[in-house]
Amino acid sequence: MVDNQALYDRPNFFQAYLTLPRSQNGLEGAPEWPTLREMVGNITDQRVLDLGCGLGWFSRYASNSGAHSVDTSDISAKMLGRAKEMNETHQKINIRYELKDLATVKLTTEEYDLAYSSLVLHYLANDAFGRLLREVLNR
Ligand SMILES: C[S@@+](CC[C@H](N)C(=O)[O-])C[C@H]1O[C@@H](n2cnc3c(N)ncnc32)[C@H](O)[C@@H]1O
Repeated sequence: MVDNQALYDRPNFFQAYLTLPRSQNGLEGAPEWPTLREMVGNITDQRVLDLGCGLGWFSRYASNSGAHSVDTSDISAKMLGRAKEMNETHQKINIRYELKDLATVKLTTEEYDLAYSSLVLHYLANDAFGRLLREVLNR
């Protein structure tokens, strides 16, 4: 398995990732977004979990859409750092960013209404993926 932490924190990779349409234009630059938006539906007042939030585009969308709270985690300090920078201009403070490996994460909030993850779960080995699903389903 690729060392994903090293991958997204590697300066050349990170800089190249920032040039992608999804990094520049956010969710509107992500081809999968129209389908995901429909699946997500109305999230007003929901407690949202964003697994592998990357630059935090969905987290900010959830917050702007009236989510009660948004808990995120990502293994890359660089991705989280940029997400937090973009948050500085964001109105609300209900997004909690945490540096965590989804292979070992222990969720602390008791309950979520929506668990979201986009383009992340394929990075996990089978046993880690199963463990994460159990961790989420136990909320
Ligand atoms: C392609 S980006 C997707 C980011 C975001 N979900 C989106 O749709 O824009 C993949 C993200 O998964 C994160 N990631 C990869 N493996 C991870 C792991 N084991 N634990 C937490 N995050 C991980 C990377 O750091 C990166 O931010």
